[in-house]
Amino acid sequence: METAVLDILYLLASVGFIVGLKMLGSPKTARNGNFYSAIGMTLAILGTIFIYPKIAHLRVPTFVYGLIFTAILIGSIIGWSIAKKVEMTKMPELVSFFNGMGGATAALIGLMEFAHNIGHSSKMSMIVAGLVIGSISFAGSMIAWAKLNGRLRKPIRLPKYNILNTLLALVLVLLGVYIVWAQVSNPVFIYTLFALALIYGVLFVLPIGGADMPVVISLLNSFTGLAAAFGGFLYGNMAMLTGGILVGSAGTILTVAMTKAMNRSLSAVVFGAFGEGSSAAGTSSTKIKGNIKEAGPSDAAILLNYANKVIIVPGYGLAVAQAQHVLHELEELLSKKGIDVKYAIHPVAGRMPGHMNVLLAEANVDYDKLVDMEDINNEFANTDVVLVVGANDVVNPAAHNDPSSPIYGMPVLDVENAKNIIVNKRSMKPGYAGIENELFYNPKTSMLFGDAKSALTKVVQELKGL
Ligand code: TAP
Repeated sequence: METAVLDILYLLASVGFIVGLKMLGSPKTARNGNFYSAIGMTLAILGTIFIYPKIAHLRVPTFVYGLIFTAILIGSIIGWSIAKKVEMTKMPELVSFFNGMGGATAALIGLMEFAHNIGHSSKMSMIVAGLVIGSISFAGSMIAWAKLNGRLRKPIRLPKYNILNTLLALVLVLLGVYIVWAQVSNPVFIYTLFALALIYGVLFVLPIGGADMPVVISLLNSFTGLAAAFGGFLYGNMAMLTGGILVGSAGTILTVAMTKAMNRSLSAVVFGAFGEGSSAAGTSSTKIKGNIKEAGPSDAAILLNYANKVIIVPGYGLAVAQAQHVLHELEELLSKKGIDVKYAIHPVAGRMPGHMNVLLAEANVDYDKLVDMEDINNEFANTDVVLVVGANDVVNPAAHNDPSSPIYGMPVLDVENAKNIIVNKRSMKPGYAGIENELFYNPKTSMLFGDAKSALTKVVQELKGL
């Protein structure tokens, strides 16, 4: 009877994770999706605490329950208050920190279970795999967290760091295989493995630049999922196994999607000297010739006022300026004038997955107005005005035209096909990829220089007067 109840609870938990994950795919349902997954996790935890000990004939002293619930309470208060306070632009570092905690938990399982499973080779292999992957994920996530919040500013590269890391990875694999194969009982071996995995986690992330951290976090996320899945196998716990597999595969899919949308290979992110500081510092052999045309807020307002169709392209600069609210005000103003207004969302606009969706949702922009790149690209040709706000690489035509460009081949928004283009940024400085943008020199383009918040505020004031 108890076994059946626990199985049902774990099944419900798994359903909660799967439905929740599916709902996270759209901003409209994401909040509820998170809630369903949390319910799933609660059911799994309660089943494990209250029902599993009966099935396993474990006598759990009352004070242990006290300890468990005190730990849950402390963890919940800390997690809740951090998540409540965090600013949207700081989300990647929060995810990195929480992911690190998941990795640490998987590693601790390995350390705790080692002594009880000596001589049991299949369980030992789960323990060793979970310990190594969890430790790498924990240490790597902590370095990623420090890089994202500015504590570790520069990528640190030891001489021949790629060779060093590969050798260390090889030592880890060999030591892990030896522990399982020789049924080692001396704890020194497992603690050495633990320490080496931590060192590897640090050395793996240290050389990678801060701007590539979202890809790294996503990769480490898949590591944590994998480590948890090994824990699920070890305990024969279906909810843990499903949860681990879902996190592992979602992390892997996201990593691949991000590298594809940035036109980078994963090996270029992990092994290459890219993403230093805030720029990938790419170079293109083509020097752009031509003049730029400047526009003031009143020119921009007039152009927008007489348009029938406007597409807004938000980018990283919108988040920096925190101009999402005034942008929404501008959009509403134009809609009230009967102008058709949409937002074009590039998959890697900003610095984290879904950055623009989250930013615009914060300003209560209607989800139906957000259109993905592949759906909006053929609409630019019949658009009167495109307003680019703090976006650069994601609208760079070099991705189509310049084979020598580092972003050549990256899918971009075909903004240059529109009848008129207004670009708002503060200067002619490049974006993340560190390259010039010929869009700014296009005769159809007007540059509206200034911080996005103040420039858009002025445009809104001008529009109100028209
Ligand atoms: P970027 O190419 O980085 O361009 C942003 C532009 O915003 C800059 O050129 C900057 O020009 C401008 N800007 C900065 N602060 C501003 C402010 N206060 N007001 C107005 N403009 C401001 O951004 P993007 O077009 O969104 O492209 C994203 C890039 O990041 C891509 O190359 C992508 O591959 C990379 N990346 C994305 C992700 C994810 S998952 N989204 C992860 C890692 C890397 P000024 O300095 O002249 O103002």
